Amino acid sequence: MKSIDQREIKMGDNMVQAGSRCRDDRWSLLGMTALVTGGTQGIGHAVVEELAGLGARVHTCSRNEANLNACLHDWEMKGFQVTGSVCDVMSHGEHVKLMDTVSSVFCRRLNTLINNVGTNIWEPTVDYTAEEFSTVMTTNLESAYHLCQLAHPLLKASGVGSIVCVSSIAGVVALNVGSIYGASKGAINHFYVRCTTFTPDIEMELLGFNSQKHFLKKLGCC
Ligand SMILES: NC(=O)c1ccc[n+]([C@@H]2O[C@H](COP(=O)([O-])OP(=O)(O)OC[C@H]3O[C@@H](n4cnc5c(N)ncnc54)[C@H](OP(=O)(O)O)[C@@H]3O)[C@@H](O)[C@H]2O)c1
Repeated sequence: MKSIDQREIKMGDNMVQAGSRCRDDRWSLLGMTALVTGGTQGIGHAVVEELAGLGARVHTCSRNEANLNACLHDWEMKGFQVTGSVCDVMSHGEHVKLMDTVSSVFCRRLNTLINNVGTNIWEPTVDYTAEEFSTVMTTNLESAYHLCQLAHPLLKASGVGSIVCVSSIAGVVALNVGSIYGASKGAINHFYVRCTTFTPDIEMELLGFNSQKHFLKKLGCC
């Protein structure tokens, strides 16, 4: 593996080549590329494995280089085509570096951007500091927005680009999980003209009032 100074970790030499392996011929992502932010654990990790298992080439990022290297090693052993960058999505400069790497790894084309990174600081609304507000909003909302802007030329160049933002039910209905977290996820839901948001057990497409109403019905809110 490369050192942290290089801020980028390349695929192993024995990695399978694009188009050579997919676990299910009926549902293949061979030839497709994806950037999944925060792929070293949780939902992001599962998404990386799902996409790579279906044959896509995936790039992911996280702040912890040791965890990233461990995941990349594991994926390499599984024959998945996954590359990674150490990147803190709180930093605009690191967004630019990340997207430069993605552009270079995927030859200036990207099929899917999955904005998965998210964080929460859970305390009473009156107790949040300005810094805590900024941490949640920058991580959950601003980073996703900025990465969408940077990814746009690559998504357009692919001819079939799409953006997925991992949201939360807390962005749709008031839940006791922290008011800033809910606000950041609500803003994500309203930001994109066409945005597919996921919660762990429910998927919705925000294409207009009807689909939102349908979603709220599912939650028993109307
Ligand atoms: N888990 C749930 O029940 C749930 C429910 C609803 C919605 N969601 C949403 O689903 C998404 C994923 O949640 P999760 O629970 O799977 O998260 P998680 O287990 O905490 O994993 C977060 C991932 O993002 C990375 N990460 C965190 N902050 C980062 C930063 N500033 N820059 C770069 N990478 C960063 C982490 O690695 P490093 O720490 O090494 O950077 C890790 O790989 C979030 O958007 C969350 O709001 C989760």
